[in-house]
Amino acid sequence: MTTSPTVVSFFDTATSTISYIVKDPASTACAVIDSVLDFDYAAGKMTFDGADQIIAHIRDNNWRLEWLIETHVHADHLSAAPYIQQKLGGKLGIGDQICLVQDTFGKIFNEGTDFQRDGSQFDRLFKEGDTYKIGNLTAHTLFTPGHTPADMVHVIGNAAFVGDTLFMPDGGSARADFPGGDARTLYRSIQRLLLLPGEMRLFMCHDYGPNGRDIQWETTVAAERDHNIHVGHGTDEDTFVKMREARDKTLSMPKLIIPSLQVNMRAGKLPPEEDNGTTYLKVPINSL
Ligand SMILES: [Fe+2]
Repeated sequence: MTTSPTVVSFFDTATSTISYIVKDPASTACAVIDSVLDFDYAAGKMTFDGADQIIAHIRDNNWRLEWLIETHVHADHLSAAPYIQQKLGGKLGIGDQICLVQDTFGKIFNEGTDFQRDGSQFDRLFKEGDTYKIGNLTAHTLFTPGHTPADMVHVIGNAAFVGDTLFMPDGGSARADFPGGDARTLYRSIQRLLLLPGEMRLFMCHDYGPNGRDIQWETTVAAERDHNIHVGHGTDEDTFVKMREARDKTLSMPKLIIPSLQVNMRAGKLPPEEDNGTTYLKVPINSL
């Protein structure tokens, strides 16, 4: 029988991101997926209210944090994983194709040789089909590139954390136009997800409340197969690619893409301080 993990959700209104605590029902072990650091870009100010809520929830329940998972290098929010790790421990993991992302954005941000492009800032680099434990729970990874070249879906018991491969059925799918993204690859990754058992619970990384509905983040594989507006009802690959590429041309860049990439490609850590003790982020002109 497949275990049903306890899932606690945290919605960040500034970036429409959902972070999760996933807990083994048979022990105190848990994992945090896709945490968010609060960043006021105009003021250059970082705060940790969202991450502190996650930390408080884990501490108040006497849970033990074993893993911090990033489904991919997010372009719309900064990860709070190192902040949470510093307080609670646990290992930080991401897909092994992070090296490609580090190479791409290492060039765009003209990082020096001290910026490692081998994923060594993380504790674990997951490959397709890898397994790991959260207490007695078994988790495994599915490599699902397309939105970015390094996306992983984490299947934990009867729940899958889909990152930005899929949105809720009425939200469709994520954009595929960032450097290294590809609509056709995304379609093929989504098809793999749709082959998971129909009753499997799916947890989104984002929801924007389309058509004025309340924010939602949980659905099932069957509901996506039957109702997803971009890939449901057996939509074929060419139809999807045409729709996705046309739609992506109309989207503006996420507000926090420039700070997010510089921080998240470093596993959520900041670039080194300059000689005045201040940390700076760059803005590349006309190169994204
Ligand atoms: Fe994303």
